Amino acid sequence: MARKKGLFIRTYGCQMNVYDSERMADVLRPLGYAPAASPDDADMVIVNTCHIREKASEKVFSELGRLRDAQARRRAAGNDLVIAVAGCVAQAEGAEIMRRQPAVDIVVGPQAYHRLPEMVARAVRAAGHRRPGATKGAGVLDTEFPVEPKFDHLPAPTTVTGGAAFVSVQEGCDKFCTFCVVPYTRGAEYSRPATAILAEARSLVAAGAREITLLGQNVNAWHGAAPDGSTGSLAQLIWALAEIDGLARIRYTTSHPRDMDDALIAAHRDVAALMPYLHLPVQSGSDRVLEAMNRKHDRDHYLRLIDQLRTARPDMALSTDIIVGFPGETDRDFADTLALVRDVGFASAFSFKYSPRPGTPAAMLERQVPEAEKDARLQALQALLGEQQRGFNATLVGRTIPVLFQEAGRKPGQVLGKSPWLQSVHASGPARLVGQIVDVHIVGAHAVSLSGEIVTDDIVQTAVTHPIEVAA
Ligand code: 5AD
Ligand code: SF4
Repeated sequence: MARKKGLFIRTYGCQMNVYDSERMADVLRPLGYAPAASPDDADMVIVNTCHIREKASEKVFSELGRLRDAQARRRAAGNDLVIAVAGCVAQAEGAEIMRRQPAVDIVVGPQAYHRLPEMVARAVRAAGHRRPGATKGAGVLDTEFPVEPKFDHLPAPTTVTGGAAFVSVQEGCDKFCTFCVVPYTRGAEYSRPATAILAEARSLVAAGAREITLLGQNVNAWHGAAPDGSTGSLAQLIWALAEIDGLARIRYTTSHPRDMDDALIAAHRDVAALMPYLHLPVQSGSDRVLEAMNRKHDRDHYLRLIDQLRTARPDMALSTDIIVGFPGETDRDFADTLALVRDVGFASAFSFKYSPRPGTPAAMLERQVPEAEKDARLQALQALLGEQQRGFNATLVGRTIPVLFQEAGRKPGQVLGKSPWLQSVHASGPARLVGQIVDVHIVGAHAVSLSGEIVTDDIVQTAVTHPIEVAA
């Protein structure tokens, strides 16, 4: 075994990035890299970046500036710090990153993580030849989309903390919504074969997972090879997962309305382990804007899906993504969005100001909406969504619901878990409940969380009086 070296990973963006960060840690472990508490204790730092909105990608460069300083401190003490940039900014900007921040040694795109060990070896070799005081990085870059899928070369995840695990089943997107960089940074849609997914899920359950979330940029477009060689659908995959003994909860994210087929809707009715919660981005309630976004669905289509889902599973809670201030969005269009939100009643939602992304069609459109107008619309929308979320949370008070406890709470004697509807739930209880599903009587509802009392044969605890609010 190689000498132990510290690895610090900073992750921005979506669940897919969180998953990828874990895979990068796995692939570097055989080289002797183990988690470090901070960049100052690390021999290597990976910044796993997000390019979806301007704010997200700008954060990367200020982070890199801080890392350059940490690198200088490490070198002054006779050590080194390899700096790697991964994720969608790496894919989109490539060598430009090294030009803007010369301290960066490695730029690795999301499709090349399995080649990280070789890249790190090159960067470390280059560091050995560095003249004292030199500040230029090692210049190792890989943003290719390889022919062979990276999943075949990445080690499967082996550890589960808190009973919940993620499995990446699909990556990339062919939808080309006009505002979105994902089709450019993550590439064309690719579905992993069912056999690989099921094997990974089984080993996660054996390692303690009670809940599995299937991940993909367009997860319900999954069309991987089924075990019999035919092309499977997400509904079939969910049915196969539901047969795994010990797996109590199945979720999937993120979906596109166009790929919400009848079999998937029926699975919400028939598969008990499939949780009654769905994140289904709508982006806008105006048909005109949806068309300009190239969403390939209209408002009616979305509302029909919601009806079908609620018929299939009456306790279904819905979450969504909404963009305000898309180019050309008028007051009337925005009013249509508010009306759609009122019609559906969301349990939670993410809302964003439109952010023009270089290279996307919408960035070139005239009639960009002024920033002040975007701010005002976002505020009005978030007020409505916040009210809906609080209203939804309040409906749980007085009910007893199963909670999967995932971690110890911030205060001693507290545990923190998730309801079937993905709400955070706090209760007083022993840490040994982490990783278990336990009945909880809900006694309090807050903006983004619930508090409750654990109800089991041997534990009846009192409610937490000051619940921690967890940011959405
Ligand atoms: N500006 C603002 N929001 C965006 N999203 C994607 N691209 C942009 C953009 N250019 C939002 C969408 C998507 C979520 C992940 O991010 O709502 O569903
Ligand atoms: Fe982006 Fe649209 Fe693909 Fe979602 S469906 S990843 S918003 S292009």
